Amino acid sequence: MAMYKTLLTDLTDNILTVTIHRPDKLNALNKDVIAELGEVVTEIYDNKEIRSAIITGSGQRAFVAGADISEFMGLSREEGQALSAKGSDIFFRIASSPKPIAAAINGFALGGGCELAMACHFRLCVTTAKFGQPEVNLGLIPGYGGTARTTRRVGKGMAMYLCLTGEIIDAREALRIGLVQRVVPAAELMNEARRIATTIASKAPLAIAACKRTINNGAHLSIDDALELEALEFGTLVDTEDIKEGTRAFLEKRKPVWKGK
Ligand code: COA
Repeated sequence: MAMYKTLLTDLTDNILTVTIHRPDKLNALNKDVIAELGEVVTEIYDNKEIRSAIITGSGQRAFVAGADISEFMGLSREEGQALSAKGSDIFFRIASSPKPIAAAINGFALGGGCELAMACHFRLCVTTAKFGQPEVNLGLIPGYGGTARTTRRVGKGMAMYLCLTGEIIDAREALRIGLVQRVVPAAELMNEARRIATTIASKAPLAIAACKRTINNGAHLSIDDALELEALEFGTLVDTEDIKEGTRAFLEKRKPVWKGK
């Protein structure tokens, strides 16, 4: 594993835990964090020992309290667009990763923090977590996919509400609107994230990658195109070694041994 300045990493049992580590700034995403997130995503794609990843924040208070506001002053229009495009590109690679990436949200997930969490494949949070897209308070709009992904995660009405009011919502409300999938006590967050990652890692790898791809790509299609895509992806799996192993193991009443082939 590479060493990072703003990220702590731990690879145990094929699960990479990435901890964003700027606790004195509530893990705000400055240029260094964004650049290093890009590098670690490449590592997640390329390192065969990594089967899934969990992104969390350092300390007790914040997952990520947003993009680093101190870097917004004096930007030109082109620099602003480049800043947004770079973060969006990295978050898009997180969302498109063939390996599952979870957000373990240990506190504030505001602005870029909420956007980072939404780019992950599923989200768990502690009971004290807080979410919001408060960019309008600064004279801005979300820049790392916040308008696009809130709409897709919680629907257009709730996306409008969150982005226009900048309101901060708690974990219970985030669960109610479907922004997070699970709320747990702080002491259980990482164990629960690892339990889910381990469960996913125990399934057939090609099926997991195809399932993610189909949901991601199908989400933007009409229902008939999405069903056609599903049939195509289903078809690519039926002559794999893994489906033979999966069905044989079921009939022989044993656990399958996946090859990812
Ligand atoms: N960018 C840069 N620094 C940030 C930050 C951000 N998004 N969020 C917090 N920080 C820094 C604070 O400036 C402070 O640094 P300092 O100790 O050097 O002054 C430190 O983190 C602690 O934050 P503080 O505001 O003192 O904590 P708090 O408990 O009073 O408030 C928040 C917590 C999250 C409500 C508050 O920090 C906040 O509103 N942050 C910005 C949220 C935001 O607008 N995010 C979207 C950005 S686009």
